[in-house]
Amino acid sequence: SAATRYEAETAPATCDGFIESNHAGFSGSGFCNGNNAAGAAAQFTVTAAAAGDATIAIRYANGGTTGRPADVLVNGAVAHAASAFDPTGAWTTWVTKTLTVSLNAGDNIIRLSPTAADGLANIDYLET
Ligand code: GCU
Repeated sequence: SAATRYEAETAPATCDGFIESNHAGFSGSGFCNGNNAAGAAAQFTVTAAAAGDATIAIRYANGGTTGRPADVLVNGAVAHAASAFDPTGAWTTWVTKTLTVSLNAGDNIIRLSPTAADGLANIDYLET
């Protein structure tokens, strides 16, 4: 079935930082520029029709020169520790990273929590 897109700027998603729109190429009306701090997270609520493994796609840009690793937590548990969000070359160069996570039927909280002081890459959306 078609992907469901959850924009970082659209509630109930949250962004420990600011929703911005100054780097072209994002989807929707903006992206999450998280604070430059470990733990400054972007969070999504995603709905699954059935329990089981799902592929999620996270679109991001990292115009810096170093990675912006983040723990990917599903319903409060770390599913992928310090997952890489490597440099993309420019803040306007958006790429999609995919991961497999185990979801419950119904609503699930997926939290991207950066593990280093630079914080998150800029986060555009999450798709399931
Ligand atoms: C720049 C860029 C921001 C980015 C930030 C960062 O300020 O304009 O979009 O989030 O760097 O390094 O996190």
